[in-house]
Amino acid sequence: MTLELLLRYLHFVSIFAIVGSLVSEHLLLKPILPKKSIDLLSKIDGIYGLAVLSLLGAGLTLWLGGHGKPTEFYSENPIFHFKLGLFVGIGLLSIYPTVFFIKNRKGDPEEIVTVPRVIFWMIRIELVLVFLIPILAGLMAKGIGLGS
Ligand code: HEM
Repeated sequence: MTLELLLRYLHFVSIFAIVGSLVSEHLLLKPILPKKSIDLLSKIDGIYGLAVLSLLGAGLTLWLGGHGKPTEFYSENPIFHFKLGLFVGIGLLSIYPTVFFIKNRKGDPEEIVTVPRVIFWMIRIELVLVFLIPILAGLMAKGIGLGS
């Protein structure tokens, strides 16, 4: 029970960190930025990456670790698979911004870099997906979606 509580706690705080880092990235992004700002964005993106890993670790353990409901409770629910699909979508959307930040953070801190418009949109769509997932999580936690 204690471990399950800890995993749920980790799952939640990771979501807070993901939302915090994505909102910060979105607020800091501008069409043109000096490399020193890209470096800051890259650091925030690193926090985002760690939060995604801890979210995934806690989620996988809740699902497969047998610390709460049985594994089949989730595996047999299509809403859970939809939730996982959206999570994978978020992961895929974050690849390009992450690579862009890493590639452009080094060098003269004052040098100006043009940020591709698509990066703004990728972060926006990631945020929308992160805000949709808790609805699916709430439904699946109640067993809605499971055949009777
Ligand atoms: C951005 C991604 C995610 C968000 C926003 C999210 C959100 C949530 C929320 C809000 C809950 C609590 C549901 C409730 O008690 O009403 C939850 C529970 C859970 N999540 Fe996630 N989750 C995400 C990713 C994942 C992933 C990747 C996995 C598995 C690999 C996962 C597995 C679980 C499990 C097993 C539970 C326990 C449900 C229960 O109480 O029975 N989650 N999630």
